Amino acid sequence: MRNSNEIAGPVLGLESSCDETAAAVLSVEGTVLAEAVLSQSAHARFGGVVPEIAARAHLAHLPGLVAQVMAEARVAFADLGGVAASSGPGLIGGLIVGSSFAKGLAIMHDLPFVAVNHLEAHALTARLPGLVEGGAPFPYLLLLLSGGHCQCVAVEGLGRYVRLGTTIDDAVGEAFDKVAKMLGLGWPGGPPLERLAATGDAARFAFPRPLRGRAGCDFSFSGLKTAVAQVVAAYPPGALPGRDAADIAAGFQRAVAEVMADRAKHALQAFAARNPAGRLLLVAGGVAANQAVRTALATVAAARGFTFAAPPPRLCGDNAVMVAWTALERLRAGAASRLDHAPRPRWPLDTPDMVVA
Ligand code: KG4
Ligand code: ZN
Repeated sequence: MRNSNEIAGPVLGLESSCDETAAAVLSVEGTVLAEAVLSQSAHARFGGVVPEIAARAHLAHLPGLVAQVMAEARVAFADLGGVAASSGPGLIGGLIVGSSFAKGLAIMHDLPFVAVNHLEAHALTARLPGLVEGGAPFPYLLLLLSGGHCQCVAVEGLGRYVRLGTTIDDAVGEAFDKVAKMLGLGWPGGPPLERLAATGDAARFAFPRPLRGRAGCDFSFSGLKTAVAQVVAAYPPGALPGRDAADIAAGFQRAVAEVMADRAKHALQAFAARNPAGRLLLVAGGVAANQAVRTALATVAAARGFTFAAPPPRLCGDNAVMVAWTALERLRAGAASRLDHAPRPRWPLDTPDMVVA
């Protein structure tokens, strides 16, 4: 295994930690040469991700997706400068599929392998060339808002992440999904709920704002979710009028946006105490695609002299561009992984093995 900061060619990245099967090829400079994401629809009728279905789907689709992006990028495996896969945190079946596939290619073609932490990949997306004006230099504050994670992280350098706060119950995307289910919307629930909320009156239902004003920057969503459930339960089953569903969706979304704004205020304070020079607030993860959440965070950032940035919606959710980009950052720093790196269902960002020596 080579391990140097000379990157010999484009990098192939694979993502298979949850229900998106994705592959991407990035040039040494970070230009996207080809990318593909396949969102598994087979989970929809279960209202959530079924791990065994996800693992089988990754196994079925990853080889074809890799062939497709390699052909599109016009790169031969032997000419790659590295191959990377999300290796945690996530569903272990999918992680095994992706990381084993990447390791197989690395061994076969004598390429450096990078075991990418999926959360680090979300965190570093902002540094993709051309995404944020000025290139998102360290340090910056990240709000990672997805179906599985909800945390505030001070991104202080490559491999140097300090978690300032996290959810004490549900992740925010999970709350969107559960409320969407109560309202009879499809899965995943965030996008249809946002569409429905756009037609509703956000002021009609007074939902709680959990932890608002409380010290620190942890999150909580279970009280809000229960409040919505109680309102919905007052209607006979299957008899929730469309108008009322829209008002509930709008009220819920506004409560989430206001909670986000409040928590972000506290997080910016904690971040600034550690990093007085930091001036960027970044939001990432699937929920970062939500316009009400973006607007609320942008307002808080502007009031404190911070620039606000969010990846374009297609790079907010799970994708392989962020995996290949993270591999490039790590390879530039000479930090390839060992081939015996085991995929991990749990892999917090602030663990010692994230640190780049
Ligand atoms: O980052 P992601 O694709 O996968 C995880 O790592 O979880 O995030 C998926 C989550 C789902 O819960 C989905 O409902 C939510 O992001 N989501 C949204 C929106 N688009 C996706 N939530 C609110 N508004 C949206 N527009
Ligand atoms: Zn994710």
